[in-house]
Amino acid sequence: MRIIDTHCHYNDDQIYPIVDEVITRAKAAGVQAIFNNGDSLASFTRILELQEKYPDFCHSVLGIHPEHAAHDQAYFEESYRQIKNNIDKISAIGEIGLDYHYSKDPEYVQAQKFRFIEQVRLAKELHLPIVVHSRDADFDTLDIIRQELPEKVDLHCYSGSVEIAREYLKLPIDFRIGVGGVCTFKNARVIKEVIQYCSEKIILTETDAPYLAPTPHRGQMNESSYIPLIIEAIASLKMMDVEELAEKLYQQGLDFYGLSK
Ligand code: NI
Repeated sequence: MRIIDTHCHYNDDQIYPIVDEVITRAKAAGVQAIFNNGDSLASFTRILELQEKYPDFCHSVLGIHPEHAAHDQAYFEESYRQIKNNIDKISAIGEIGLDYHYSKDPEYVQAQKFRFIEQVRLAKELHLPIVVHSRDADFDTLDIIRQELPEKVDLHCYSGSVEIAREYLKLPIDFRIGVGGVCTFKNARVIKEVIQYCSEKIILTETDAPYLAPTPHRGQMNESSYIPLIIEAIASLKMMDVEELAEKLYQQGLDFYGLSK
């Protein structure tokens, strides 16, 4: 089975000290490529280092997560400078977006929207896909994507409804949903409906490691070697053959990030 993990965080303090073991286990499970996603300016260094150490395996997605939206202008300018300086190494801009889960303070929401739009425009300028984090912000995220129309959008760890997915599918963009461990949870009704409704052609497999480990590892550290559990869950929801689906998901993941040979 060939597998791709389009969204993880090997730079995270939980994984980074044991990253060699994690990569060994991932490769043994069939994982061919992983995409480390940035969240802060500080995260860029380790992500780029990992790509240098594992050039054909670790890929880099750099961007500033909405939880860092309150940083000052100099912080964002430096982030964009580093992104542009490393343009030849970057597969996408991410993870960027909106997160209203912990605070809906109007000033903070405004800052999140401003930095999200700014980074979407940067991705358009650099002709890169975007990886979007959207939590409790479905409509505002959709509004910004609808207004900016970036070329390629991965809504990572998709948590929206079928109705929201349908709205995205109407737009003239290459739209994908990132599907990870949540689809293996017994009570995760909405994502299961979304998987059944959408074509498998728009699904990207991801872990969000070290977060959101699939059943039966729920609550433990997540890692890319668990992706087969996610593919099995998708295959059973779509009544498809696991091996065939795995190869399809692998190829379209490579295609989305422009890595197909
Ligand atoms: Ni993430």
